[in-house]
Amino acid sequence: MSVRKINPVKSIRGEIMIPGDKSISHRSVMFGSIALGTTEITNFLEGADCLSTIGCFQSMGINIERKGASLFVHGKGMRGLTAPQNTLDVGNSGTTTRLMSGILSGQNFASVMSGDASLNSRPMRRIMTPLNSMGAHITSLNGNNCAPLKIEPGTLHGIDYSSPVASAQVKSAVLLAGLYADGETSVTEPALSRNHTELMLKSFGAQVTSKTHENGSATAHILPCTELYGQKITVPGDISSAAYFIAAALIVPDSELLVKNVGTNPTRDGFLRVCKAMGADITMINSCVQGGEERADILVRSSNLKGTVIEGDLIPTLIDEIPVIAVMAANAEGTTVIRDAAELKVKETNRIDTVVSNLQAMGGNITPTEDGMIIEGGTPLKGAHIQSFLDHRIAMSFAIAGLNAQGETTIENAQCVDVSYPEFFTTLEKCCL
Ligand code: S3P
Repeated sequence: MSVRKINPVKSIRGEIMIPGDKSISHRSVMFGSIALGTTEITNFLEGADCLSTIGCFQSMGINIERKGASLFVHGKGMRGLTAPQNTLDVGNSGTTTRLMSGILSGQNFASVMSGDASLNSRPMRRIMTPLNSMGAHITSLNGNNCAPLKIEPGTLHGIDYSSPVASAQVKSAVLLAGLYADGETSVTEPALSRNHTELMLKSFGAQVTSKTHENGSATAHILPCTELYGQKITVPGDISSAAYFIAAALIVPDSELLVKNVGTNPTRDGFLRVCKAMGADITMINSCVQGGEERADILVRSSNLKGTVIEGDLIPTLIDEIPVIAVMAANAEGTTVIRDAAELKVKETNRIDTVVSNLQAMGGNITPTEDGMIIEGGTPLKGAHIQSFLDHRIAMSFAIAGLNAQGETTIENAQCVDVSYPEFFTTLEKCCL
């Protein structure tokens, strides 16, 4: 149980490096494990979620070692995993659970995945339905469509799946199972979600194609594969982690912060587009592409933000940033409306509820809706006692809110930031004046 005290600061200044992207770090270990040869990963995120992925593949016989600044995954090929002795512990990680279920569906051994209380209450039917229709045998051991999940061997067939939700975890689970199927598999989603799986699988040698349609929906196709091949991966900084510091520099007066090494993949950069729409002074410098992933340094200066509307196809490109956007909206002039974001209800917590209750505790004017929230800005926030509900993104978002509030803010169970950003509070101290 750790409680963090946050006091208002005068300004946010300096230069910070953003740790590796969580989504890309997970995928680099997973794909490296089922590839032939060694995958060398630089700037791997050592957060608890990614450590869960490492632990799972180690217990399926994969040798993963740290040497200097790199992680080396000694892959054993598409059929090289061995049956785990125990239940695979997926911790708090939805990405580990859902992506691994695609890989495990293609194995010739049975396995069980289970996580913490939050993970074991998140919906898994969204991956069970398509994977079982491919021929996988996945059952929810408690019969509630949640983990623990048991995965038994089956013969996989290619399918054309139309997902009701824009979810990279669902899309990736089906594509990964598609590697092991007997024919082509496609996944269509109502809007394009993050495409790290497609980009990285292609670089490992899989045949993947993708297309965005005129109505905004998107389809990815994959062909069965005999082997993938180990790669060198330099993980860009996580834009979801950068968002806290960008928000801090925008709302705290007299700030100027250089946020270095941020992944700016267009399927993830909705936060930056919203910042611009809110009138933020942000400049991208040193933009480049490495391993198919765009990255840049971002210079941020305090700005007078104004309200905006966030909806539709934009939502999947910033879904994890909505809690900190709500904090920015409370510090902006005018109204911000967030809609089409019902997926917030099935994250590590119900983030409509957890954002609304905490922002109200700070005196913010926020109303929950069925699929989002409405925030009236302009009323200064006051320090309050914040419940993280063990949700890393809630803890970090409200630590940022506390920097520009009147009086002290305390964050309950603040150690949950370790899930995605273990150095968060150290970095925050470094740039707060
Ligand atoms: C992730 C996809 C998103 C995101 C999660 C990471 C991924 O979830 O919220 O933090 O790495 O694929 P959904 O795909 O369920 O929207």
